[in-house]
Amino acid sequence: MSQFLNALPKAELHLHLEGSLEPELMFALAERNAIALPYTSVEQLRKAYDFGNLQDFLDLYYQGAAVLQTEQDFYDLTWAYIQQCQAQHVLHIEPFFDPQTHTARGIAFETVINGISRALADAEREYGISSGLIMCFLRHLSEAEAFATLQQASPFLDKIIAVGLDSSEQGHPPAKFARVFAKARELGLLTVAHAGEEGPAQNVIDALDVLKVDRIDHGVRAIDDAELMQRLAREKIALTVCPLSNTRLKVFDDMSQHNILQMLAQGVKVTVNSDDPAYFGGYLTENFMALETSLGMTHEQAIALARHSFEYSFATPERKAQLLELLERYAASR
Ligand code: ADE
Ligand code: ZN
Repeated sequence: MSQFLNALPKAELHLHLEGSLEPELMFALAERNAIALPYTSVEQLRKAYDFGNLQDFLDLYYQGAAVLQTEQDFYDLTWAYIQQCQAQHVLHIEPFFDPQTHTARGIAFETVINGISRALADAEREYGISSGLIMCFLRHLSEAEAFATLQQASPFLDKIIAVGLDSSEQGHPPAKFARVFAKARELGLLTVAHAGEEGPAQNVIDALDVLKVDRIDHGVRAIDDAELMQRLAREKIALTVCPLSNTRLKVFDDMSQHNILQMLAQGVKVTVNSDDPAYFGGYLTENFMALETSLGMTHEQAIALARHSFEYSFATPERKAQLLELLERYAASR
């Protein structure tokens, strides 16, 4: 493990809590809740994590989430992720959750958000890890279902900083959720959306122009459109890039093909993130390490990526200044 990269102060801006459910915890929760899993062991489950594309992964990811039943389950899931953050010097986090994955199974919205929020509050108190929670709409579901979810969230808006858009990008373009995002913005929420992961650069443009998002999740296909690349750099629009996810889901054949450092060199505000670490083989440090190993990322580039993660976070100006100060001090001490 690279000591420099692990100790580097950093933020994570693209992490699905349901995607941090490790097989061991999945089995423990299945037992606690008397749920039968279609696998006999942790090893057998891990072997199934061989994905041809995003949809292959999503099918297993939604299936795995079925073991999450009680508020304590959501607390334990979130707390396990926070332990990783503490071990890897991740000082600020903006995790996603997918309420519809749970409400569709009869789990109350409040069960989900209360468990997650309690763990985030404990992270701040015990470790000083600050956070902002992002509620994602599943784009393979309808606009009406997204509106119903926003309605369910209304008593809990003080616990949510932004809304996002995830799940199957192909066939579900940003415009489908234009009105939901407009409503969310009216309610004072910030907005992000997955775009340009498997889908075309046009989805990045539409996420910006139609959904008016504050950040793009993934966005790696923007590289196909030179004008868009210039716009991203000029308008300082951050991309939350997920290297291990992109190779595990075959967005790139191999890490040596990944375009994150190319985008960085072109002035795009890229950040490094783990997406669904339990499924893709690594948390934030492992993602940074993959860039060092396969792309020859330098310490200066790693520091620039970490700097972006603080600058383009949704933390308060005071917290951002504090985080940036910690990073600059770390960089100067090297
Ligand atoms: N949900 C969890 N991970 C995702 C990803 N990489 N893309 C779209 N939806 C997701
Ligand atoms: Zn994602």
